[in-house]
Formats: sequence, structure tokens, C-alpha cells
Amino acid sequence: IGDLIGLTPALGWNSWNAFGLSINDERVRVAAKTMIDKLSAHGWNYINIDDGWEAENRAANGEIVTNQKFPDMKATTDYVHSLGLKMGIYSSPGPRTCGGYLGSWQHEDQDAKTYGDWGIDYLKYDWCSYTEVAPKNLTLDDMKKPYQVMRASLDKIPRDIMYSFCQYGMGEVWNWGAEVGGNSWRTTGDITDTWKSMADIGFSQMPAAPHAGPGYFNDPDMLIVGKVGWGDSQHNTRLTPDEQYTHISLWSLLSSPLLIGCDMGKLDKFTLNLLTNDEVLAIDQDALGKEATQAIKTDNHQVWIKDLADDGKAVGIFNTSDKYQAITLKRNENGLQGLTKIRDVWRQKNVITTGSSYTVKVAPHGVMLLRLSK
Ligand code: GLA
Repeated sequence: IGDLIGLTPALGWNSWNAFGLSINDERVRVAAKTMIDKLSAHGWNYINIDDGWEAENRAANGEIVTNQKFPDMKATTDYVHSLGLKMGIYSSPGPRTCGGYLGSWQHEDQDAKTYGDWGIDYLKYDWCSYTEVAPKNLTLDDMKKPYQVMRASLDKIPRDIMYSFCQYGMGEVWNWGAEVGGNSWRTTGDITDTWKSMADIGFSQMPAAPHAGPGYFNDPDMLIVGKVGWGDSQHNTRLTPDEQYTHISLWSLLSSPLLIGCDMGKLDKFTLNLLTNDEVLAIDQDALGKEATQAIKTDNHQVWIKDLADDGKAVGIFNTSDKYQAITLKRNENGLQGLTKIRDVWRQKNVITTGSSYTVKVAPHGVMLLRLSK
């Protein structure tokens, strides 16, 4: 923890949930243009290329090169930079990535240098195929090692690169992700666009919650909003609108990187509104960098509470059932004492209430997101 970058969670776009291995230069440029036109005023700034850009073989001198989908990575990066945005890329510590493309195994210094030469600002570093080259019975040190190796390589180049790694929560990564120099690390397997996948991931983040702060964040995986598809054709996310409010609210309470996973060329009005509510984004981006913890869990609802830099709290009241619920928040419990002002964050409206408890009707799989202050 010392590089002083990534002090708040990344806000950006990543190609994977929309296009999978079918990502190409044109699609990246559309994403960048859309971000500038519609999203960057709200803080969004990373354009991250996931797996699928690497050539079949390295150059004769061992350098990583792009495949035909990316004719000139330096030019793509220059374009993204010319818009005022930042550029991210993907690799894996094994010989191959999860998609079977070339990984960085034994080329870490060389790859870090190439990323620096291109002007890359963010690296997502996976895990795939590393077990083929690692000792058989993995110890905790074995799990840390590939991330330390790439950290050292990144430290040798004259460029700040946000370092995000992706090893699915193994070895309780939240205990040591910051120690090995990550700015964020995945805490779970891959998300998909169903309530079960999103809710299972989002509501299971308690063990990781104490281990986040400015410059180091847990990553419960990318957003599944808008048109997703992991390939050449996209469909609307299968989350209902209320489930999408829950998704963004919960990820913001968890101080998660928010990486939009949709086809930006088909950004619809609902998704745009979902991603441009400044009061919601302010909860994710809060300077204290703390993660919410679960204060209440019943068989039909949960309450998660996050400390904020202004001594207030963000409170998510989640209806986890498939029926409407009237849920009551007691105002003198769970550290909420003395916080007299209540703001309904999604609606951007003050709530007028004086009682010792506050009851809200929450839609099935929906949320009421509040900001409480003195
Ligand atoms: C893994 C990661 C995904 C994506 C793919 C790329 O599955 O978890 O987010 O990066 O690899 O192949």
C-alpha cells in the first residue's frame, strides 16, 4: 500500500461481460466514445480490454503482440487517452489466459514494459493456467507469488498502473491482497446476469468487508447491467429493474470497483440513469474507502451499513424475498443514533420523519438506499 493510486474504487467499463473473446478495436472505440459522451461527467474513466487481444505467439524477441482484432494497440490507447480516458488491459500469470490466449508466464518484466510503452493505466491479472507451472499442493505463499512477481515488474516501469488481480477469493485473498500490492482483487468466481448469481456474490461479502481502504478494494466482479452477452450477440440483462438497483446499491456499499459490463453502443435510457446517479456513485467513491457490513439478516431482508467520510452512514435496506415487504429501520441501533437527516439516495429526496423507527415498503429483490447524516 504505497503507490497512492486507486484511492477510490475504479469506475469504468470492461469488455468481458458484453463481448467475451469477441472484443475488438472498433468495439473499444465505441465504448470510449460513449463513455465520454454520456458517462465521464459522472466520474467514469477506465476503458478496460479483457481477454482476447493477444496474438497466438510472441514476437521473436519474446515481446507480447496483439492479434488481428487489435491492429495497433498503441493507436487504440492513444485514441482512448485523446478523449481524456484511461486504458486497461488483461493478462494471466500462467502460460495461457482463461480464454486460452497467451499469458505472461516468464515474460512479466517484458509485458509490464510493453504495457508501459503502449500507455496502459490498468492491468487485470488473472490466475488461469498458473497451476500448471506452480507447485502441486498450493500453499498461501504459492498463491501470492505470481501477483508479487507482476507487482515487482510493474514497479520497474515509469508508469502508474492500477493493479487488479483475479484469483476468485482463493486463500482468503482479502487478507493479503493489499500486502502483495493489489489495488483490487476478485473475491469470488465469475458473475452472470441472474438474481441468484448476483445476490449470492453480493450478500456473501462479509468476511472480506474489513479489508478495504483507500488504494485497496475487494472486487465482487463486474456489473451485469444493460446489454450483456459474452460474445457476438447481446441480450438485455436478465436482472429486473429492481434487481439492478440492488446490484448497484450493494456494489456501492461494498466500495467495489464499478466496471460496466455492457455493450456501450446499445446503452439504453434505463441503464444510463442507473449509472449516472451522482449521489449513489458518491457512496461507492466515498473517501473513507470503508466497506459496508451486514447489520441485519432475516429470511426476507438484509440491512447493510457503510461508514462515510462525513461521519454519516449509507444504509441499504434490501428485500431479498419475491414479495413486497414493509421493512422497519430502528434509528437508535447499529450506530445510527444521532443521525437525524435521512436522504433517499436513488430518488435524491430528503425523507421527512421524526419517529424512532422508519418503515419502508421495498419491492421484491429491490432496495431502499439511504444516506444518514447529523
Ligand atoms: C476469467 C475471469 C473473467 C474474464 C475471463 C477471461 O474467467 O474471471 O472475468 O477475465 O477469465 O478469459
